[in-house]
Amino acid sequence: MANDALLIKHTGTGKEVEYPLTKAVLGAETVDMRGLYRDFGCFSYDPGYMITASCKSAITYIDGDRGILLYRGYPIEQLAEHCDFMEVAYLLLKGELPNKDQLREFNLEIADRSIIHEALRKFFDGFHYDAHPMAMLVGVVGSLAAFYHREMDVKNPEHRWLCATRLIGKLSTIAAASYRHSIGRPFVYPRMDLSYCENFLNMMFSRSAQIYIDQDHYIDPFLVKALNLLFILHADHEQNASTSTVRLAGSTGANPYACIAAGIAALWGPAHGGANEAVLNMLAQIGTAANVPKFIAKAKDPNDTFRLMGFGHRVYKNFDPRATIIRKTCYEVLSRSQTNDPMFELALSLEEQALKDPYFIERKLYPNVDFYSGIIYKALSIPVDMFTVMFAIARTTGWVAHWYEMMDEPATPIGRPRQLYVGPARRDFVPIYQR
Ligand code: ACO
Repeated sequence: MANDALLIKHTGTGKEVEYPLTKAVLGAETVDMRGLYRDFGCFSYDPGYMITASCKSAITYIDGDRGILLYRGYPIEQLAEHCDFMEVAYLLLKGELPNKDQLREFNLEIADRSIIHEALRKFFDGFHYDAHPMAMLVGVVGSLAAFYHREMDVKNPEHRWLCATRLIGKLSTIAAASYRHSIGRPFVYPRMDLSYCENFLNMMFSRSAQIYIDQDHYIDPFLVKALNLLFILHADHEQNASTSTVRLAGSTGANPYACIAAGIAALWGPAHGGANEAVLNMLAQIGTAANVPKFIAKAKDPNDTFRLMGFGHRVYKNFDPRATIIRKTCYEVLSRSQTNDPMFELALSLEEQALKDPYFIERKLYPNVDFYSGIIYKALSIPVDMFTVMFAIARTTGWVAHWYEMMDEPATPIGRPRQLYVGPARRDFVPIYQR
């Protein structure tokens, strides 16, 4: 069946050209505009890539208006309820859920790859104790490129698999090491006998090289479950800013470790993965529940740059399905930890007041996943400046899956947008003594 087409007419010359429309399995069909410059001599202008599909992908689907998020076709709600994070990582990478044997093997492989080279560990000594852990993460993950340059044929499936599993395995080790460095404690080596989330908590909080011991001498399974959920919810989100950065860097054939380091850098910004840290900083700035109306008014004032961090989303204009899932866990974690931290009360008061405010209702600004994830991380004793690092650990699975998918394609054009030039027209140089 012939696809429909979009007819574009130049009103000046009267020239008309049809551009083919491709149906998506789900979501909006896409018009192939690659001939636009050839046919009309013009570019399409789309800052922020609001309507530009930069690639074909079979990994994640989002319907922002209906609040739907699918990984490889599976609703996030089902995966969040039934899966282990490594199961989801396998699904993102391979396209199918693993059977028991496949999952056991994958877990073993990831655990095996979680060990980092001793020389890489020493890189941390070069950082000041108060360096931001995201700065260390960008630097140390990028440095993996210097350690694993032998198996670097990105078109070789075995090499690609090695890169993917190394990245997933080592990310949590490097992340925990950046925290240990910042508190001046010795690094804790990864353990093969623990699950991904248990291992991470152990590397973060162990007092010795032993398992993290709470009052009952075990890692609290409730905390492991909460972390597992957060990692699943953050694992992928189709062509967001950091994933697009990984793809753009990958399109040049760059080293995959360097591509993921670029993704980590993009994630760091407060408009993206830095939002969960920004939420807690904002709550500290607001101070008490009595100040909430004043800050809501600031957020609504067009002359004030203050925004409610953790509210709004580029794609979800109805609700963020991840926020719906995580909200419940947030309340459970808070009631369980029986914390008297006034920040939690403040967060709930802000949520309640913003949700009833016409400004936020009209603009469809709902709490996003990061509003609640920051609060849960705080309740799990994860320090605020580690929040975005936590996001990076989870999102590495998505980044790697996208990089993998891109490398699987027979030919990927280098990512190279055009521009609408608004600078000076051509002019002649004037020597300094004549200016
Ligand atoms: N607080 C107050 N007003 C807001 C907020 C907010 N958090 N977000 C959007 N608005 C307002 C804008 O001022 C604008 O108002 P106007 O129509 O009167 O000019 C309107 O809502 C639309 O905002 P845009 O900036 O056009 O929306 P966009 O889709 O480009 O931005 C974004 C989305 C960046 C997430 C934005 O909502 C924001 O800055 N939120 C706070 C940061 C945040 O929580 N980021 C995390 C995103 S989730 C993630 O990365 C996992």
